[in-house]
Amino acid sequence: METITTFTSELSILEISYLIASILFILGLKKLSHPATARAGNLWAAAGMGAAILFTILFHQKDGQPIGNIIWIVVALAIGSFIGWYASIKVKMTAMPQMVSIFNGMGGACAALISLMEFPKMQNHLASLPEPVSNMLGGEGIAILLGLMIGGVSFAGSMIAFGKLDGRIGDIKHPILRIVNLTFLVVLFVALFVILFMKPEADNNFPIYLFALAALIYGVTFVMPIGGADMPVVISLLNSFTGVAAAMGGFLYGNQAMLTGGILVGSSGTILTILMCKAMNRSLLNVIIGAFGVAGAGGVEATDKTVKEISLSDAAVLLSYSQKVFIVPGYGLAVAQAQHLCHELDNLLASKGVEVKYAIHPVAGRMPGHMNVLLAEADVPYEKLVEMEDANNEMSNTDVVIVIGANDVVNPAAEDDPSSPIYGMPIIKALDAKNVIVMKRSMAAGYAAIPNNLFYHAKNRMLFGDAKATLQKLVAEIKSL
Ligand code: TAP
Repeated sequence: METITTFTSELSILEISYLIASILFILGLKKLSHPATARAGNLWAAAGMGAAILFTILFHQKDGQPIGNIIWIVVALAIGSFIGWYASIKVKMTAMPQMVSIFNGMGGACAALISLMEFPKMQNHLASLPEPVSNMLGGEGIAILLGLMIGGVSFAGSMIAFGKLDGRIGDIKHPILRIVNLTFLVVLFVALFVILFMKPEADNNFPIYLFALAALIYGVTFVMPIGGADMPVVISLLNSFTGVAAAMGGFLYGNQAMLTGGILVGSSGTILTILMCKAMNRSLLNVIIGAFGVAGAGGVEATDKTVKEISLSDAAVLLSYSQKVFIVPGYGLAVAQAQHLCHELDNLLASKGVEVKYAIHPVAGRMPGHMNVLLAEADVPYEKLVEMEDANNEMSNTDVVIVIGANDVVNPAAEDDPSSPIYGMPIIKALDAKNVIVMKRSMAAGYAAIPNNLFYHAKNRMLFGDAKATLQKLVAEIKSL
């Protein structure tokens, strides 16, 4: 069977440009893996995408004709670029996951729309053939239907994820949703095979629209029961779906850049999902079924254990006369937007001869690399950021660990309470240091909604208050010493 869109052999310049674009994607991705090169990595990958778009417009041909609708394409590109640019400068760091979910949803929608457009063309093409080639739709049909199904799920799921992260949609955790979910998944696959084998008549687009609707509904029911705080993991999963859906478009058009780009997004999304689950010591199934992580969790613990507080002046003295201090940043530091003050404290202590480093837990905060990005915003040098394992090795010769707005990532229950939902999750071993100071507003729990015995430990003292306000006062106190 002929492909719907073919490239002629003279168009090797286009193929070479796709190869260059693919190489730029891969190199960009590699650079994205380190904070020092991440910005350049983003530009390299964007240049690859820009080149793929430009060369497609210039050299792509269909049936010997150059690409049409240039004005529409340029207008759409201009509108899309403007929205992307505006969103990237306006969006707050804490709202990044929302933006990622919207952008991801748009990718899924594009993949689904490509399928919706190409399906009728394929039907007409098949109808025009003198003899039916086979009794099923074949490779193109599979690519179109999978692109529509996965893209549709990704679009609808990402929109729900956005709504949840933005606090517009709550969690609906009724067990019946699991049955509804499974039913829709089965319906989708059955429909896929029915359409493949039944080959709907030309001009009968009803089955494909129904299929698209089922994919959208499944996207909603799939994400709806998942806890709001688990959304970063889900977004990464949906991101991998979008990649696979885009790769289907690449197969369909024989477009190598689209194929490589889609596969890279699909695989990196999958790897990230697995890494996040591993770092939380949870299975993907556990995230999807939602065992913990209720959004907004965190009541006051009912306990008769006593908590020791530390005054600002005592904290200032303790820190100023230390040799080595580790700062453990967490979600609360991002909420308080206290990263600049945190860096000021770090500089101030360094000027007094104190060695200050940051212990970075892989899932501190609410998105991958959250703390790295937050601290980079405040120009904290990368060399000061120490990965969890290395930081733990240095804890025993650390005088003070200051935990700023972190909770779960320093919770010893992960190591010593087999009944705890976070048991087995690697943590920053703050208690191995000589002293611990925890800065937070109350005794409220973190994301996992569980108590933290670190707060009651003899080595620990609490410095209650909003991280920004507390750091401001602490910096002033140290300056006045
Ligand atoms: P959490 O365990 O969520 O604890 C954050 C703490 O910050 C809270 O206990 C809160 O206590 C405090 N806080 C909030 N606002 C504050 C403010 N303005 N000033 C001072 N403190 C404030 O955070 P974490 O230790 O960073 O752990 C991250 C959690 O999220 C882990 O359980 C992880 O598995 C999960 N998670 C992470 C990701 C990624 S990829 N990073 C994705 C999904 C889930 P108060 O209310 O008492 O102040």
